[in-house]
Amino acid sequence: MTRTALHDHTIVLIGLMGAGKTTVGRRLAAAMDRPFADADHEIERAAGRSVSEIFEDFGEAAFRDGERRVIARLLDQPPMVLALGGGAFVDPDTRTLIANKAISIWLQADVETLATRVARRDTRPLLRDGNPVEILERLLETRQPAYAEADIHIDASAGTHQATADAIIAALKDRETQK
Ligand code: S3P
Repeated sequence: MTRTALHDHTIVLIGLMGAGKTTVGRRLAAAMDRPFADADHEIERAAGRSVSEIFEDFGEAAFRDGERRVIARLLDQPPMVLALGGGAFVDPDTRTLIANKAISIWLQADVETLATRVARRDTRPLLRDGNPVEILERLLETRQPAYAEADIHIDASAGTHQATADAIIAALKDRETQK
């Protein structure tokens, strides 16, 4: 990729649980030769607890506070690829910060695909109390208006994570040439 304004911006990946933000983000960072960070991991590191433990011990509101602070800190660092937890972009302050400082990418996928992917791990507190498909449908309905504000929308339903990372790079290049 040529040296352009794109290189001054962190690339933020958003979307529901199971969209592939972390795996795609790692591949994208490697392809763009820049660091990768995962907001959930950074929150866990700062708290010395897993996301599940933070929800259990302090509640979701405390998790969201920590999430907002950690993301603000990461956005002040040199350009990176940053994967957010599924709920982070719903926060209006976080959305404004990202709109001002970064390029946001929504990894879109149908709920059936997401449910299949999240079934592989039991680390997500929001999916524990009910049918994951129904929970994901409800979350998509409430979060879609926020997600739709992302600068770039990428279909992450089909294809490998590498194909999704390649599609992001193509979309970023398009965006640069259109300027
Ligand atoms: C959440 C998504 C999770 C994690 C937390 C809450 C959400 O991250 O931040 O369990 O509200 O959608 P992933 O999207 O990386 O699974």
